[in-house]
Amino acid sequence: MKIVSVKGMRDLLPADTAWFQRLEQAAREVFAAYNFDEIRTPIVEPTELFTRSVGEDTDIVGKEMYTFADRDGASLTLRPEATASVARAYVEHRLWDRPGLSKLYYMGPMFRRERPQKGRYRQFYQIGAEVLGGNAPVIDFELLAMLRLLLERCGIQDAELVLNSVGCADDRPAYHAALREALGARLPEMCADCQRRAQTNPLRVLDCKVPADQPIIATLPTLESFLDDKCREHFAQLRQLLDANGIAYRVDPRLVRGLDYYTSTAFEFQHGALGAQNALLGGGRYDGLTQALGAPAQAGGGIGFALGADRFVLAMQASGVVPSTGPVAVLVPLTDAELTLVLHLAEKLRREHIRVELAEPGRKLSRSLELASKLQARYAVIVGPDEAAASAVQLKDLNGGAQERVSGEALLDRLRQGVA
Ligand code: HAM
Repeated sequence: MKIVSVKGMRDLLPADTAWFQRLEQAAREVFAAYNFDEIRTPIVEPTELFTRSVGEDTDIVGKEMYTFADRDGASLTLRPEATASVARAYVEHRLWDRPGLSKLYYMGPMFRRERPQKGRYRQFYQIGAEVLGGNAPVIDFELLAMLRLLLERCGIQDAELVLNSVGCADDRPAYHAALREALGARLPEMCADCQRRAQTNPLRVLDCKVPADQPIIATLPTLESFLDDKCREHFAQLRQLLDANGIAYRVDPRLVRGLDYYTSTAFEFQHGALGAQNALLGGGRYDGLTQALGAPAQAGGGIGFALGADRFVLAMQASGVVPSTGPVAVLVPLTDAELTLVLHLAEKLRREHIRVELAEPGRKLSRSLELASKLQARYAVIVGPDEAAASAVQLKDLNGGAQERVSGEALLDRLRQGVA
């Protein structure tokens, strides 16, 4: 039987990777401008890292993790997300001892055993960033401003910032009590997950996707009126900064995000073109996470986001962005005799970062030109005996069809001008 890839895990072929590379490059540039550095953590972590940080009652930990026993019996898990790993690394390497905030970004595959559909995969790709070591509202603001710039650089239009404050450890008990009370008599009608979560972690009842439970969930109280003064003030200051800097957002008091480590600020950027999986990215503050993983109080708070690269690419395509793929030029030696000159030119262009492809020497010119247009090259650079004798080329513009003789010396500049 033919072997195919695992359900929900797909190959990204060159037509896909061109989009991913474009996104990754934009992200690296934007992150650098905001003074973030890269961190690479392992793909496999001790299972306990996720149960302790993402939380036992979440869908991710309860239903979606790829967990297995190592040969020595240790329980390991393919990372379903990377915030827990970055927080672990921050604690393990005492990064708070370094000057300033720790501003770290990452890119890579994550694994969740969800039901695959458009924009949702079991191996998917995230690009994320975390700021550890501080809790001022201006840090939250800068992260959101950075995301606005990244969306702009990716040509994504119409993404909506949705914002909420999910409170903190101090105000959670009162909110939990209110949820339990509101659920009260209706609870026996609800799904088994809701019934369990009402006891263990009532906030997670709000993550329920069972259609029959939604009318009950819609009646539950929101966090707003339970926020303590600190969270309320933090949220007000963040909103002021966003307003003063022209960053539009919508407050959704029901946005709680499906991970337990969040405190205070929580946000998503949503996009209409994505259908049911409309979250382009999500994030929030997680003050207390590094302390839960063993850091002292001075390690400070944290905030971050992760974008679904797969979904970003869909949104870029929906916004009419075109990735730059294919060679700038295909070099065509008409016979073997011109090969030396053509190889020399190709080397020179490649050293200058011009992407070029070589046609097989001796092929019929019409076939080489056909290949060049199929590869979506802008130019064909044709070298026959006359050109070789004069160290020149025929430069054919494959968009307009014009052809002219250009000296080998001038070729680099002409190609640069043509694609500028
Ligand atoms: P999350 O909301 O679970 O947050 O995931 C972030 C983004 O990853 C989602 O908005 C979505 O675009 C993408 N994503 C999630 N699951 C899938 C999937 N199965 N297929 C395709 N894309 C998916 C986190 O992971 C947090 N670690 C974000 C964060 C960073 N919070 C603070 N720092």
